[in-house]
Amino acid sequence: MTAAPPADVAARATAGFRQRYGGEPAGRWAAPGRVNLIGEHTDYNDGFVLPFALPLRTVVAATSRNDARWTVWSELDAAPVEFGPADVDEPGRVTGWAAYVAGVVWALRAAGHTVPGARLAVASDVPVGAGLSSSAAIEAAVLAALVDLGGLHLPTDRWPRLAQRAENDYVGAPTGIMDQSAVIRGRSGHALLLDCRTEEIEQIPFDLALAGLAMLVIDSRAPHRHADGEYAARRRSCERAARTLGVPALRDVNITDLDAALPKLPDDETRRRVRHVVTEDQRVLDTAVLLRAGLIGDVGPLLTASHASMRDDFEITVPEVDIAVEAALAAGAYGARMTGGGFGGCVLALIEASAADAVAAAVATAYAERGFAAPGPVTVFPTGGVTRLD
Ligand code: GLA
Repeated sequence: MTAAPPADVAARATAGFRQRYGGEPAGRWAAPGRVNLIGEHTDYNDGFVLPFALPLRTVVAATSRNDARWTVWSELDAAPVEFGPADVDEPGRVTGWAAYVAGVVWALRAAGHTVPGARLAVASDVPVGAGLSSSAAIEAAVLAALVDLGGLHLPTDRWPRLAQRAENDYVGAPTGIMDQSAVIRGRSGHALLLDCRTEEIEQIPFDLALAGLAMLVIDSRAPHRHADGEYAARRRSCERAARTLGVPALRDVNITDLDAALPKLPDDETRRRVRHVVTEDQRVLDTAVLLRAGLIGDVGPLLTASHASMRDDFEITVPEVDIAVEAALAAGAYGARMTGGGFGGCVLALIEASAADAVAAAVATAYAERGFAAPGPVTVFPTGGVTRLD
């Protein structure tokens, strides 16, 4: 099964706009979800990540208005949400999905821009709660719309930080820079190697089809259990460990220094957290070396090692994702791992292109045997980042 073509979601955004506001939108902007090939919980440790943009998109149809107010309708809700400057300037006042929109307005205003009032209609094929960055997708699409509608001077390489601020400081989720970078800077046919400290990027060719391979993304459909609190706890633990080790961030612990660093940490749990981050950074760099050499099939063991590290050291997996990884590997995947923040979400499996149905069926059988809700597998390929459609 492949992803729905973008035209459908764009048509839904336009239809929603016409129905809610009447008339035609001034333009439509689209931003993808993302999947992270490897490099989990490394971004807020100033480390390395290797995500790519997905062929599943969020589309915003919008037009400006003359007053400084914002009305947003989304497929997720029957009624539109409207807010003004007073709501925006007090982080937390707009809640739910609309908070990501208000957060972008807030972040633009906080950076000194005059943000045009707007009417926006949002449609999305990026599933919410699956760990595919539906939040970064709406942030990026709304940001692109407001920048264009307002004629704002804001180079795109500054967009990821701004969208991250919306999420960190308005919505209140202490996430890193990976998701926004992937959905804004992703390039078709490439994986994005990002240094999360310097924001330097390298677009590495990642042509699965040419290699006769495919990437299967399996939505575990596991309910996110305590994901927000656990994510914040992992981040705090990493930051404390960096302070103990006397480094600005765990990125500064080199893999060759790891054995010397671990005994300086106060307890076994912290040692395992640090070991995950330091080894994961190295796995990202090792994966990049293989991809540059065109050896896509060879990254499988690194993906699987990443999963084991998340399961045993960082402790962010749940039975549903562990089972999906095991079943995919048993069915012949070259490598498999959970992708995203953890405690549910999606598993990705690197497979022979011809094996998609067999691997998906093996995971479905393993789920049925355990009484889990049926998983949602799709094959994906790297697409481009945020763009204006028309
Ligand atoms: C979530 C966050 C990202 C990143 C990942 C884990 O997706 O939004 O910033 O930390 O988790 O790698």
